Amino acid sequence: MRIYFDHNATTPVDPAVLEIVIHALRDEFGNASSVHHFGQRAKAMLDDARTAVSALLGGEPSEVVFTSGGTEADNFALRGVAEALEPTGRKHLIASAIEHEAVLVTLKALARRGWRTTLLPVGQSGIVAPDTLADAITPDTALVSVMHANNEIGTVQPIGRLARIAHDAGALFHTDAVQSAGKIRVDVRALGVDLASISAHKFYGPKGAGALWVRRGTRISAILTGGKHERSRRAGTENVAGIAGLGAAAQRAAGKLDTEAARLGALRDRLESAVLATVPGTAVNGDREPRVPNTTNISFEGIEAESLLIALDLEGIAVSTGSACSSGTLEPSHVLRAMGLPTHRTQNSIRLSLGATNTEAEVDVFLEKLPRVVAKLRTVTGARR
Ligand SMILES: Cc1ncc(COP(=O)(O)O)c(C=O)c1O
Repeated sequence: MRIYFDHNATTPVDPAVLEIVIHALRDEFGNASSVHHFGQRAKAMLDDARTAVSALLGGEPSEVVFTSGGTEADNFALRGVAEALEPTGRKHLIASAIEHEAVLVTLKALARRGWRTTLLPVGQSGIVAPDTLADAITPDTALVSVMHANNEIGTVQPIGRLARIAHDAGALFHTDAVQSAGKIRVDVRALGVDLASISAHKFYGPKGAGALWVRRGTRISAILTGGKHERSRRAGTENVAGIAGLGAAAQRAAGKLDTEAARLGALRDRLESAVLATVPGTAVNGDREPRVPNTTNISFEGIEAESLLIALDLEGIAVSTGSACSSGTLEPSHVLRAMGLPTHRTQNSIRLSLGATNTEAEVDVFLEKLPRVVAKLRTVTGARR
């Protein structure tokens, strides 16, 4: 029996979504730009997906631009707005220090091209305080980018308040909603954002499909240029099967958002409380509320996170040491570091992210195995000292 507690890295494709992807690949091979029957059938699939994605986010179908995933959506938001607003003379970009690399590395690239950039700090809460944005923003700021939910610790950011501060200063606001879409309600109008990124593989859709929601009237330049696809906002023959999968996954996520959030929240809370109660030297990283319901990030005193990950994997349990991109290296998590946690704690923390496949029985198995695994690792580490 293998247990998968790494749904923030990626999720398995929902069988019903898979059927639609297979159908699109097998039967709807037309180019959605073609005028004939084959093309129009493919276009109809894109239209359905656009409607489903806009329904998940609370926007209009025409505001959805399909991308190759969350990374491209984040790149498009930052690079596209920077390019469009360059002539206005605004040369400043702001993001939080706990953004995904898709935002942070893009920001660094823009800094090399002359943009002034500011990273907003977060304290041990793992939440951006609106005052820090109010202090950092200037009349020169073009765009503020703060993620809706953090991928490593799950904290939900006060997007509505941050977006208002950005708008009061005349700046645009982007949120990376890759880890919140499908887990909690994401209503772009209620949040008041201008741009929002999502990625299908985080909510039981296929990898390589995502979208950037762009509020109508927002100034943004295409970063992929060529044909007039996506209303000239993103050139390239559409990945019809991937996009159809994204749409189907969005529709299914919207349909069971509240029930699944309640189920996962209860499961996560039981797991988390039991770990804290039964394993000495453990602590949860970041505020426990507001958080997406499926995520917990826990530090284990005196243990290397990588060793715990491997030991649990040998027991058939998949967890993560933070973002998938930084696992495999011994780099401590930039999120935990930005929170000001001591070095040992940035290196002894693991992330558990639950999802649709998880059951009470799996949590029981984990809780039964964990204390033994931790005790064994602590003996080994202690003996080495
Ligand atoms: C917060 C966040 N943004 C962006 C991405 C990148 O999305 P994708 O894997 O679709 O490129 C991820 C994926 O790990 C993420 O967690």
